[in-house]
Amino acid sequence: MCGIVGYVGPEQAAPILLEGLTRLEYRGYDSAGLAVRDGNNRVEVVKAKGRLKALKDKTNDGSALKGNTGIGHTRWATHGEPSENNAHPHISDDLNVVAVHNGIIENFTEIKEKLIKNRYSFYSETDTEAIVKLIDYYYKKYNIGPIDAIAKTMVRVRGSYAIAVMFKDLPGEIWVARKDSPMIIGVSDDATYVASDVPAILNHTRSVYYIGNLEMACLRAGEVHFYNLDGDEIGKELSTIEWDTEAAEKGGFEHFMMKEIHEQPKAVSDTMNAYVKDGSIDFEAAGLSSEKLKKVKRVYIAACGSAYHVGMTAQYIIESLARVPVRVELASEFRYRNPILEEDSLVIAISQSGETADTLAAIREAKENGVPTLGIVNVVGSSIAREADSVINTMAGPEIAVATTKAYSAQLIAMYLFAIKLAFENGKIDKERHDGLLAEMATLPSKISKVLEDKERIQWFTAKFSLAHDVFFIGRGMDYAICLEGSLKMKEISYIHSEAYAAGELKHGTISLVEDGTLVIGVLTQPELYEKTRSNLVEVKSRGAYLMGLTSAGNYGIEDTVDFTIYIPKTDPLFADSLAVVPLQLMGYYMSVGRGLDVDKPRNLAKSVTVE
Ligand code: F6R
Repeated sequence: MCGIVGYVGPEQAAPILLEGLTRLEYRGYDSAGLAVRDGNNRVEVVKAKGRLKALKDKTNDGSALKGNTGIGHTRWATHGEPSENNAHPHISDDLNVVAVHNGIIENFTEIKEKLIKNRYSFYSETDTEAIVKLIDYYYKKYNIGPIDAIAKTMVRVRGSYAIAVMFKDLPGEIWVARKDSPMIIGVSDDATYVASDVPAILNHTRSVYYIGNLEMACLRAGEVHFYNLDGDEIGKELSTIEWDTEAAEKGGFEHFMMKEIHEQPKAVSDTMNAYVKDGSIDFEAAGLSSEKLKKVKRVYIAACGSAYHVGMTAQYIIESLARVPVRVELASEFRYRNPILEEDSLVIAISQSGETADTLAAIREAKENGVPTLGIVNVVGSSIAREADSVINTMAGPEIAVATTKAYSAQLIAMYLFAIKLAFENGKIDKERHDGLLAEMATLPSKISKVLEDKERIQWFTAKFSLAHDVFFIGRGMDYAICLEGSLKMKEISYIHSEAYAAGELKHGTISLVEDGTLVIGVLTQPELYEKTRSNLVEVKSRGAYLMGLTSAGNYGIEDTVDFTIYIPKTDPLFADSLAVVPLQLMGYYMSVGRGLDVDKPRNLAKSVTVE
């Protein structure tokens, strides 16, 4: 979604803003803009539709804009088409207020009407212009200064926002405020930064403040002051970002996605090592004591997209090992169906970004009902990490490609550990099984590396289908969960229509779509379901499908049925998704590259979905 950066310090702001925006490109956007204030207190605003290159060209890589204070923005259109006019920054008529915004203002029409009655006119279709002009209105009408003007605006608007504002009267200052949209503030000795996410500022500082919901801050060169909605100054703790800068670079790979696919063995072992101590799983640091776990009688998992697919896999594993009922919910549906939440339940929210609006709302829904919550989150300090009662941090490091890979793999590990711990604490598995499962998990990083060695074969096979119109993925049980993920990877970056089906469902309608040459990918990693899925593959083959089988080493008989096979190393079937996902990620990747698409930044998608 939209990306915000801001800088105030001794350097020229524009190049720093452009660099920050480049590092936020992964969030998804369709236009961009900058506002820079020069020493004579003039503000210049430049905007461009399309990729950042257009903005860089227009500003001569930033050198055409002079000044030490500025704000920048990449816009992912919600209100109004992608266009230069709708791009941010937005301004009040006399440039008294200039601002960028991430989020959605739900009551902007009402605010616009009020302002029109007060002789304001509007030039764009955005909700942001309404906030800018409302701040201007309060600032001038009551002559109350920035804190009260922003606070009054915050009280008046409904929705979500992270805003960065410059006032004409206040040179060398950027004012920011947030509610339910991500924003961090970085400080170095002589400069201060604001950004939607860590990679934008990582080259300049690792010292950050997390601004809370309904809080404001004033940024000056090298200093920052925080205020609550009453205008009282509040104290904040400085945090240090541990990620290394290399983590946010491509490191010799052509795309972030390929680099991140290769980082999976590390993401998996780092996540395991963070919570497995001396042969036992220790969630004390996550705020999840054995006592708390023993009280859990049912589990709800709320998540979106790939994180939801992790939840699907986790459901099978938790129920199988711990015999605790699990319900997996799309977070966007969860809160609107009035879920029956009981106190002996645990609501788990899985999220890479920790900022997905619907997943965050699920945590809040659970808390309102007095139900304990657990966040499985990759971004330290994110909203879900701060609001959940307990937090397991996945150790994937920054994930830049829009399509998730290593964070998905790290989330699986977190859920395996959770399932094993829950089962052990509840006496559903004995020490031997517990130790055996952990020992098998410890082999996953090297087995993932082994799967990666097969990538040329996968590339070769994928190239044959780069003109495909439809791809179907079929599997049963956990194999169905992995099919969902494989299918999402395929469609989101290659734009090929693909569907995942529980193999037994095909005959209930979908099989009519299969025609000569349709690619059907069967996933068969679960021994007790192998023959069943194989029969379903035979059924589609006799209707003309071209078959690929993805199965475990040893199941060589599959070659009698399918046209092409990928084998993954043997593992406990409970952990097979960790291996099976890798070839499917590679297929999506190679398909996208083969079709000449923007792998890391697929059209219309955003890395962090901070609006409903
Ligand atoms: C797909 C993908 C998305 C995310 C989803 C949830 O490759 O990345 O489906 O999984 O948007 O995002 P988080 O995990 O940040 O809540």
